[in-house]
Amino acid sequence: MHCHVKIELQLESLERAVRMLAYDDGEATPFAMAIIAAARSHFSGPAVRHTADEEASLFPRLRRFASDSENGLLAALKELEGQHQDLDVVHARFDELIDIAGPEPGPGQIDVDELELTVGEMLGIYRPHIQMENEIVYPEAARILSPGELLAVGQEMRARRGLA
Ligand SMILES: [Fe+2]
Ligand SMILES: [Fe+2]
Repeated sequence: MHCHVKIELQLESLERAVRMLAYDDGEATPFAMAIIAAARSHFSGPAVRHTADEEASLFPRLRRFASDSENGLLAALKELEGQHQDLDVVHARFDELIDIAGPEPGPGQIDVDELELTVGEMLGIYRPHIQMENEIVYPEAARILSPGELLAVGQEMRARRGLA
């Protein structure tokens, strides 16, 4: 859930950066680009590890230990994995738009309309995604998984971050 808060903060920053670019007289561009660079490094590092925590450590255990009657949870996992793939596509499009503009874009060198659409699409996937994980998946994990399994998830998460 802590990872979700950090992702939400980056999304808010991206929305702010796009607004800065939309109403820019040129002076705000470097600031907006710095915000975007920070968000990109979060989404290409910590956020990727968070998705791996879910797809490689948490979801497989939920599938193994959920009973057949837990149809809602199993359907949620499938939907969430599909959303992870959709997010990969949207992030790639976002990165491409920024890369095309170059490291220090001048006025009119960023396709702000397309950027706004892409960030809007990102938010449209992330918000319900995070809500579904916070409200359905994580509480179910706490209910279904044994303390030993939860510990194993935590150990895998630490290993993914190079921590002992
Ligand atoms: Fe997720
Ligand atoms: Fe998540």
